[in-house]
Amino acid sequence: MKIGVFDSGIGGLTVLKQLIKNYPNNEYIYFGDTLNLPYGTKCINELEERSDKIINFLLKEKVDIIVIACGTISSNLYKQLKDRYEVPIIDVLTPTLKYIREENLEKIGVFATPMTIKSGFFNEVTQKSVSCPLFVPLIEERKIYTKECDNAVIEYLEELRGCKNIILGCTHYPILKEVISKYSSANLIDMGYCVSKYINITNEGKQKVTLYFSLLSDELTNNISSMLDIKYNIKEKIV
Ligand code: DGL
Repeated sequence: MKIGVFDSGIGGLTVLKQLIKNYPNNEYIYFGDTLNLPYGTKCINELEERSDKIINFLLKEKVDIIVIACGTISSNLYKQLKDRYEVPIIDVLTPTLKYIREENLEKIGVFATPMTIKSGFFNEVTQKSVSCPLFVPLIEERKIYTKECDNAVIEYLEELRGCKNIILGCTHYPILKEVISKYSSANLIDMGYCVSKYINITNEGKQKVTLYFSLLSDELTNNISSMLDIKYNIKEKIV
């Protein structure tokens, strides 16, 4: 199968990684919209415009299914996008909710982007929610192991005091797992894990992975190679 996966930047790679782990024998086309990130503070119209452009690009690449590896697009536009296109489209939040319900998790908090928190998507399963505008820039600017990042993590965790489970409601956040775990013993819920647990795809072709980024730099290329231990092609592409 040919699987299209997209996000604003490197965050969706946390989803891609889990998909490849469970379903290695497929062709994957990834699009990271680094020229236009962050998505978490954009208005719905802008998010919709970006999603349409990327989905149309993935359709030209003849993908069989599309995974929206972005919590912000999933929480605000999933229904519209799903109804607009014939190709099956999967989001990251529905499987995450399913996982939370199946596991009967309690005392749940969520970290997510401002637009995901604003959508209220996680309200029915969470006791506390925190909008984390500092995280995506820190991650994309490769400042994960800095004092600045530690301080942001400590500040946001303060608001989730008492939560036993934390939904990492933005696909970038699993990249911060190690830092968050330094200051919290809560169980961290990774949406990529949830998607790959429930997605219904085959696993019977040859593995081929192509990554497109709308803005590519040497630093980004190095950063990605430290995240992925598989063979892939990487290209710059504006859509
Ligand atoms: N990784 C995306 C999400 O899950 C987008 C983050 C951003 O660009 O602000 O929400």
